[in-house]
Amino acid sequence: MGLGWYDSSTIPFNALLLLERCQIGWFCAREEIPIEVAVAFNANPHVLWYFQHKNPNVAPWVQKVKDARPKELSSFDIRKMEIKVFESVQDWVAYVWDPSLYDQQPFMSETLSRPLSTIDFRNKWVLDVGAGTGNLSYQAAAACKVVYACEPVGNLRDHIREESIRRNLRNLYVVDGMIEMLPFPDNTFDIVMGGYVFGDDMPAEMGELCRVTKEGGSIVLCPGNADLDNERHSFLTEQGFSWERYEETKGRWVRKYWSTVVKRSG
Ligand SMILES: C[S@@+](CC[C@H](N)C(=O)[O-])C[C@H]1O[C@@H](n2cnc3c(N)ncnc32)[C@H](O)[C@@H]1O
Repeated sequence: MGLGWYDSSTIPFNALLLLERCQIGWFCAREEIPIEVAVAFNANPHVLWYFQHKNPNVAPWVQKVKDARPKELSSFDIRKMEIKVFESVQDWVAYVWDPSLYDQQPFMSETLSRPLSTIDFRNKWVLDVGAGTGNLSYQAAAACKVVYACEPVGNLRDHIREESIRRNLRNLYVVDGMIEMLPFPDNTFDIVMGGYVFGDDMPAEMGELCRVTKEGGSIVLCPGNADLDNERHSFLTEQGFSWERYEETKGRWVRKYWSTVVKRSG
């Protein structure tokens, strides 16, 4: 079951040739080779070739897919499998195919300003981790001293650069980087924020977020956490984060979290 962001049947399988090195790494990190992956990739060996050459670390995964040797199917059934593969990576394909597909999602347009509406950005150094199409960064840039939009996907970084020029935001800088290894020195930012990015490796990610935040600075996370006391919620509240719920789209409540960083010496 996909995210339902757009009709995957309109995208050619060759769109996977736009995936970037980090995304190929994420794609091939999945242990299991589902049948649709085995069928679709063996029917498109040039895409397998591209994955292996763009990111040589995935060679064992590529071999596993080749070894799966699915039985031959009609071109109609192969296309069904290709679409199923797309359904599982609609977000990653949107980022490299057409980032506006992300901005068109209702959760972006209806409640975009709410997560950050209470933050005082004036005169602050701000970091937006996993900046995506840059929407949180643009909000911050309108008020803060400087904002760094940190995003591992190059096509999205290009998108943010173009959009920040169009919006005449001269205090917005775009950099490559991952939440688990942020490319900034310790104690750099007054506010560190992340929309829909926190949660895959919570201890490592939190360590980095705290490291780059100044003593007394703030971390604000809108992880898209459903309105549930789940593992992410337990982790963040145990770390002393405050939280509140907000309506992300009509009828879908999610939680945002914030905390002031206190550094212990020794
Ligand atoms: C769902 S989008 C959110 C974009 C934006 N923060 C927002 O709230 O609209 C998630 C973004 O995080 C990026 N991302 C994924 N894994 C990441 C990681 N390990 N470190 C940093 N960014 C990551 C993706 O490339 C994507 O742009």
